[in-house]
Amino acid sequence: MKYAFFTGATGGLGVLCVSALSKTGNWTIFAAGNNESVLKQLEKLPNIIPIKVDITKQESVDNAYEVVQTYTSTLDAIINFAGLTYFTSLIEGESINAVERLLDVNVVGMARINRTFFEMIYKGKGRIINCSSESGWMTPQPFAGPYILSKYAVEAYNDSLRRELLYLGIPVIKIQPGSYETNITQQVNHFFDKAVSETTYYKELLLKMKPMMTMELNQKNDPRHLVNTVIKALESKNPKMKYRVGTGKLLAMLELLPEWGVDAVYKRFFR
Ligand SMILES: NC(=O)c1ccc[n+]([C@@H]2O[C@H](COP(=O)([O-])OP(=O)(O)OC[C@H]3O[C@@H](n4cnc5c(N)ncnc54)[C@H](OP(=O)(O)O)[C@@H]3O)[C@@H](O)[C@H]2O)c1
Repeated sequence: MKYAFFTGATGGLGVLCVSALSKTGNWTIFAAGNNESVLKQLEKLPNIIPIKVDITKQESVDNAYEVVQTYTSTLDAIINFAGLTYFTSLIEGESINAVERLLDVNVVGMARINRTFFEMIYKGKGRIINCSSESGWMTPQPFAGPYILSKYAVEAYNDSLRRELLYLGIPVIKIQPGSYETNITQQVNHFFDKAVSETTYYKELLLKMKPMMTMELNQKNDPRHLVNTVIKALESKNPKMKYRVGTGKLLAMLELLPEWGVDAVYKRFFR
C-alpha cells in the first residue's frame, strides 16, 4: 500500500480524485480539507483518512503532519489541489485582498505543504504533484488577474522546485486543467456578478464579455479525464513533467496570436 497526502480533497475535483484512488486499492490517502461534512463523507470510503487542515496556517499543517506520522514515516506522493479563485478588476473593489488571499492559499499554502512533508517524500522516494491551471500558461485574460497571477506563480514555483529536486531524484509534476464544473466555476459566476454590480469603469464591457465567459465555463469537460490524468501522474514509472487536460478551445486559439494580436482581439471584440 502506498501513502499520499492530498490537499483540496474536499473540493469538486479533489473528491473525484480521492474517491477514484480509494477504489484502486493501491493507495491510502490522507484527504486534507476544511469542510467537515465532506470530510465525514470521505471517511466512509476505504483507504481514506480525512484530515482537517488549513494550508495557510503552519500550526494546522504541523498538526496534520503529526496525524500522518501516526500512520507512516514515509509518503509516496503529495498532491496539491487546494485552491481558490476570484473574478475582479485589478484596480477596483477588493482586488488587493483577493491577490493576497489567492497567493496565500494557491501558492504559499502549496509551498508550505511541500516544505512540511518533504522529508517524508524524500524517505519514501515519492513524488510531488502540483495543480496549476490553463490560466498558469495561457496568455492572461482581463479581470481574472488575482487567479491568473497565482497560477503563474504556481508554475514558477513548480518549475523551480522540479529543477531543485531533480538533484535528489524526486519528480515534481504539474497538472494544468482546463475548465471543470465545480464550486470554483460557480464562484467565478458569483464574483463576476459582484464585479458588474460594483464597477465604476467596466459595466458595459463586463456585460458584453459575460456570454463568452459563460460559454468557456460551460464547456463541461468530463472530469473523468482529469481523474485519470492525476492517477497517471501518480502511478506512471516515468511521469511527464506536466499534464494538460481539458484545455479550452477558444482560449487555445488566442495562443496562436502574438501578444499585440491578443490585445487587438480583446479591444475589437468587446469595444
Ligand atoms: N474547476 C476548474 O475548472 C479548475 C480549472 C483549472 C484548475 N483548477 C484547480 O483545481 C484545484 C481544485 O479546484 P476545484 O475545482 O476542485 O475547486 P473547489 O471545488 O472550490 O475546491 C477547492 C479546494 O481547495 C480547498 N481549500 C481552499 N482553501 C483552503 C485552505 N486555506 N486550506 C485547505 N484547503 C483549502 C477547499 O477546501 P474546503 O472547501 O474544505 O475549504 C477545497 O477542497 C484548484 O487548485 C484549482 O485552481 C480547477
